[in-house]
Amino acid sequence: MNKIKIDQKITKGQIDKNIYGHFAEHLGRCIYEGIWVGPDSDIPNVEGYRKDVIDALKDLDIPVLRWPGGCFADEYHWRDGIGPYENRKRMVNTHWGGVVENNHFGTHEFMRFCELIDTEPYICGNVGSGTVQEMSEWVEYMTFDGESPMAKEREENGREKPWPLTYFGVGNENWGCGGNMRPEYYADLYRRYATYVRNYGENRIRKIAGGPNIDDYHWTEVCMKNIPKQLMWGLSLHYYSFTRCWEDKGEALGFMEKEWHEVMANTLRMDELITKHTNIMDVYDPGKSVALIVDEWGTWYNVEPGTNPGFLYQQNTIRDALVAAVNFNIFHDHCDRVKMTNIAQMINVLQAVILTEREKMILTPTYHVFNMYKVHQEAQHIHLELDTETIECDGVKIPAISATATVNAEGVTHLSICNLDTASAQTMSCLMADLTADAKIAGTIIAGNARDAHNSFDNPEVVAPAPFDAFKAADGCLSIELPPMSVVTLSIAN
Ligand code: AHR
Repeated sequence: MNKIKIDQKITKGQIDKNIYGHFAEHLGRCIYEGIWVGPDSDIPNVEGYRKDVIDALKDLDIPVLRWPGGCFADEYHWRDGIGPYENRKRMVNTHWGGVVENNHFGTHEFMRFCELIDTEPYICGNVGSGTVQEMSEWVEYMTFDGESPMAKEREENGREKPWPLTYFGVGNENWGCGGNMRPEYYADLYRRYATYVRNYGENRIRKIAGGPNIDDYHWTEVCMKNIPKQLMWGLSLHYYSFTRCWEDKGEALGFMEKEWHEVMANTLRMDELITKHTNIMDVYDPGKSVALIVDEWGTWYNVEPGTNPGFLYQQNTIRDALVAAVNFNIFHDHCDRVKMTNIAQMINVLQAVILTEREKMILTPTYHVFNMYKVHQEAQHIHLELDTETIECDGVKIPAISATATVNAEGVTHLSICNLDTASAQTMSCLMADLTADAKIAGTIIAGNARDAHNSFDNPEVVAPAPFDAFKAADGCLSIELPPMSVVTLSIAN
């Protein structure tokens, strides 16, 4: 029997809504086809953006969207993506599939997309192959209000008012695709580039340094030691979940029980990584003024057979839904340091929330988890003591249960629980001192009937949320019966 004890009086603070952020890169069919089809497309669109995608994304209350990369960011020159389409430079997307990038989706198109889905932009600038001047002028172009060369050019390109811009990344993965730098060199470069990322008028930019890869604690140490806090609002961390190893990441569909366990065990490692990076950050920043920004996370499998290996297209199953939920539970537990995360990626790439094929669109199991968990945005984290059974396959042990709880401004508690067991239902008894027998409780569940249960273009509703009522409330105790491979969110109002 699994047990949870909830203590509303102990909290780590607020769950920043930006923990539910997304990431969209010029990679495969994320931007082109996924978001942007152009105004002349026969796919229904609003000013060139897919209408079905806009509607679906609006429902998720996405707080923030990172763009244009990823590795693409350190090869991107923003001037190629402004002005009349016919004059925009056609180039090769060398990093991702070697396809032609026509630059039709540039700064104006991204900012307009953010307006359409009501989300805040998070722009990642080019340190690897760009100049300080280029980065500085991009910020001026986007945010300067008044008379300046960049503001004038922006106006000539159809946008008089500056865009509000809060989040700006100074490079991406500069230990790898962003320049193969040593942390000492990057920290110095960061100081220089960040100096010229200026605040104009009322606009205040939160600058984010390109942080470590996975468990590169030395990188974190060097950045924290050498970059003044007033120049760095956040430090990023990238970590992906896959099955076996980088060279053979396992399949998105048709995988074995052991691979389910491996992906879950790898996902649970997020907690260890955040804890260890946070411990280093705490030494240099005990007041926690520098945020840890997990601006790339999610599953990364071998690409769908028959697709361009550089497009990173993969299907998305109930396993991915559980990976998303487990990650959110971990991010909540670290909400005093983790202030933003961005799933990789929004559409048609890696752990996407939406997949498209021509005019068709499906919502993935991961989409549904984002929808079920949005109640936690800006709510207060509640301490939860979890006593869970352990399940094992071929020596890979994982806990059966992962869970999180928050209380919102109206005093409603939300409890999200995952059953990671593919074979058995799990019973959970949840002790909540304030619970009364007549509390108003409502639940939603997403579950799979197979390890790789997923939605397809022919069968789009195989994994979909449904009402959940397999619980019983008594004074001070809630018992819950969780089906195998499921995520449940309960709202509890006394
Ligand atoms: O999300 C795909 C790629 O993964 C990004 O471009 C890069 O930053 C990371 O290695």
